[in-house]
Amino acid sequence: MQNKWLNEAFQGEVPNDFQGKVGWQSPSNIALVKYWGKHGKQLPQNPSISFTLSECCTETFVQYEKAEHFGFQFFFEGKENPAFGAKIEKFLLDYQVFFPFINQLDLKVESRNTFPHSSGIASSASSMSAFVMCLLDLERSLSLSKGRPIELDLQKASYFARLASGSAARSVFHKMALWGATDCYEGSFDEYAVSLENDIHPIFKTYRDSILIVSGETKSVSSRAGHGLMNGNPYAPARYAKANENIKNLLTALKSGDLDTFINITESEALQLHALMMCSNPSFILMKPNTLKIIEEIRNFRNETKIPLCFTLDAGPNVHLLYPKNEADKVDEFIRNVLSSYCAGNHWIADRVGDGPKKML
Ligand code: PMV
Repeated sequence: MQNKWLNEAFQGEVPNDFQGKVGWQSPSNIALVKYWGKHGKQLPQNPSISFTLSECCTETFVQYEKAEHFGFQFFFEGKENPAFGAKIEKFLLDYQVFFPFINQLDLKVESRNTFPHSSGIASSASSMSAFVMCLLDLERSLSLSKGRPIELDLQKASYFARLASGSAARSVFHKMALWGATDCYEGSFDEYAVSLENDIHPIFKTYRDSILIVSGETKSVSSRAGHGLMNGNPYAPARYAKANENIKNLLTALKSGDLDTFINITESEALQLHALMMCSNPSFILMKPNTLKIIEEIRNFRNETKIPLCFTLDAGPNVHLLYPKNEADKVDEFIRNVLSSYCAGNHWIADRVGDGPKKML
């Protein structure tokens, strides 16, 4: 597959008058079966499954112009941001063999998130997928300028989004995505994610994700360091086996609409992710006291009302509350009356399952 995209790479002279601007909005995603542990070039140790979100997005615009040499500037929310820019520049230079035309372009990238700064929401999946969509769109314009129209290929977008930031591979697809090779899903790969849209019960397409902001602080361990800690973790082999079993059972539950199994696996995966961090060396406790209080409230509420809501966690203290749309009124009331008091500044983000990247320009 790599060679296919290598063979397709646009070679030759960029026309002197080639200039313009492309813009894409791309969402974050929340994993149900978690990717935690990697090898080689951003390859996952186990497959993962996620919901594509709708409200937590990054909007990126890339202005391009023919130049003598590669030029690059990155602005985040109106201000030049060399630290984040360096990450994208490194990605472009590492993979320039796929995009040799960048050496004849001056690029100015402007990016912003649709969710608040201090919400503790990881933005690498949305930002890297938004950037890759812009890059492929730019490549498409260039090809067109040479009279060679090409389609925007989401598998290719997922492949390069993965190389930029693992979980970003899953953000380019509608509704739900599976990333990582598994025997229980034909056509699944470690190199890029695939859409699960046609293999899920309609109820999952209506899912809400209310993100309860327990703390807006940035993470105390980067995901790069976290993945690295899995290398010496004595529970790693058992974890990878369990993740594969959870993938198999979750795929079946997603197809049939079995919410009990969905809840069971989703909560167990969230707690396993945190358990792995707690028993890494050095160890990290990323939950806060209010994370546990919220989990307890959710489980009590579920037992009392039989409403099929459940939680998942990312690598941080915030709680993602997942439930079908037909329960939204009752769950919203529960959030307002009970859960919001555990949130920093009573703050939560009302998100839901969404449709992947959108072209802005
Ligand atoms: O994509 P990364 O390298 O930031 O890793 C993401 C890891 C988790 O968010 C914790 C889990 C996942 O599968 O998204």
